Amino acid sequence: MKLLEIQGGKKLTGTIRISGAKNSSVALIPAAILADSEVTICNVPEITDTDALTEILKFLGASVKRASESILIDPTTIENKEIPKELSTKLRASYYFMAALLGKYKYVEMYFPGGCNIGARPIDQTLKSFRALGATIIEEDNHYKISAQELIGAHIYLDMPSVGATINAMLAATKAKGETIIENAAKEPEVVNVAIFLNGMGAKITGAGTSEIRIKGVQKLKGCYTEVIPDRIEAGTYIIAGALVGDHLKIDNIIPEHVETLILKLQEMGVKMVVGPDHVIVSKGNYLKPVKIQTQGYPGFATDLQQPITTLLTQCSGVSTLEETIYENRFQNVPFLNQMGAHIEIHDRKIKVNGITHLKGCSVEATDLRAGACLVLAGLVAEGKTQIVNIEHVLRGYENIVEKLTEVGAEIELKEE
Ligand code: EPU
Repeated sequence: MKLLEIQGGKKLTGTIRISGAKNSSVALIPAAILADSEVTICNVPEITDTDALTEILKFLGASVKRASESILIDPTTIENKEIPKELSTKLRASYYFMAALLGKYKYVEMYFPGGCNIGARPIDQTLKSFRALGATIIEEDNHYKISAQELIGAHIYLDMPSVGATINAMLAATKAKGETIIENAAKEPEVVNVAIFLNGMGAKITGAGTSEIRIKGVQKLKGCYTEVIPDRIEAGTYIIAGALVGDHLKIDNIIPEHVETLILKLQEMGVKMVVGPDHVIVSKGNYLKPVKIQTQGYPGFATDLQQPITTLLTQCSGVSTLEETIYENRFQNVPFLNQMGAHIEIHDRKIKVNGITHLKGCSVEATDLRAGACLVLAGLVAEGKTQIVNIEHVLRGYENIVEKLTEVGAEIELKEE
């Protein structure tokens, strides 16, 4: 078990370079299975979630080579066998293998995926898409046997614009016979990243990034090269760090459009920022106004930044409100922030943050990935020492977080418990 120790109150200055997006990489790695020859995915972050997926690829018999920031995957040696429960339940994204294996071999056996405990997270929309494409599903004790004589293009309406279901439907439909239309598709940049990768292999996908995606099935997919987009949630987390304790902190290698909603919210609060073509320079504001936030699918305010921004809301003068509309259990960071001196009330899916409060370091727990990120931010602004246990959650999603923060002036150390 690892813990993170932070001595708060240090000014952050210099440059933080943003890594490739976790939520793109975790879909691109399983998607590589669909190719008929080697693919190269560039800018893949070295985090435990991408390690877990490459472990699954190796288990299936693919050749996987890491070369600095790239991963070279040769899927030609893959054998379609059941992914062991302990591998698939390590993370949510393991279910992209369901769609990729089904799309390629018309058969897959797998367990329900894992992932952060932030809500129910059913996979009914993914399964509904597979059925629409002609698959039969036998489910027993969270174990799925999914098969199809052939996959045939279908008109699919997603009940909610789920990122996972959209990507899964795309992966399964890429080699299906005829045309598939996904209505109410998720518009997240990670969906676009996956569509560009598949099109690079020879798929015929249009409309990714809008709510209607069209896929004309193809028979063959060749190997190709693709690049992971910068991680907009990592970028957002460090931009918030800059608003808390930054002194001209530069967050570099970003696509500003992907964090536009956050930038606009911070400007509404009064945070000082300079937005460049691929970076943001941000400094701590002297007087921050309270705001109202509601999480939404892209381009709305990202649920993954909801917990990190809560730390900043504790530094606004007055009452801010935040409503979580995507997950029903994403406030597990709140009791720990309150333990550090925040004054936050939870009312069902909403929180009321009474600021300004002076945060003081203490021992807290990362209950999930973004809750952990919220507490890292709290540790940076708090007086004294903060210890965050269960930091493994954070290491799943933030590449070199200790090195990146140390480089810009934080006093932060990873220790064994
Ligand atoms: N939902 C269903 N049925 C489904 C799928 C989703 O009811 O079949 C509901 C979920 O219960 C939830 C909502 O729809 O209320 C969103 O679920 P979604 O499928 O969009 O989430 P996901 O694909 O499992 C991805 C990211 C999450 C991010 C969400 C929303 C990955 C691996 N995960 O999750 O990232 O919060 O989209 O943008 O891409 C994180 O990085 O910390 C994280 C949780």
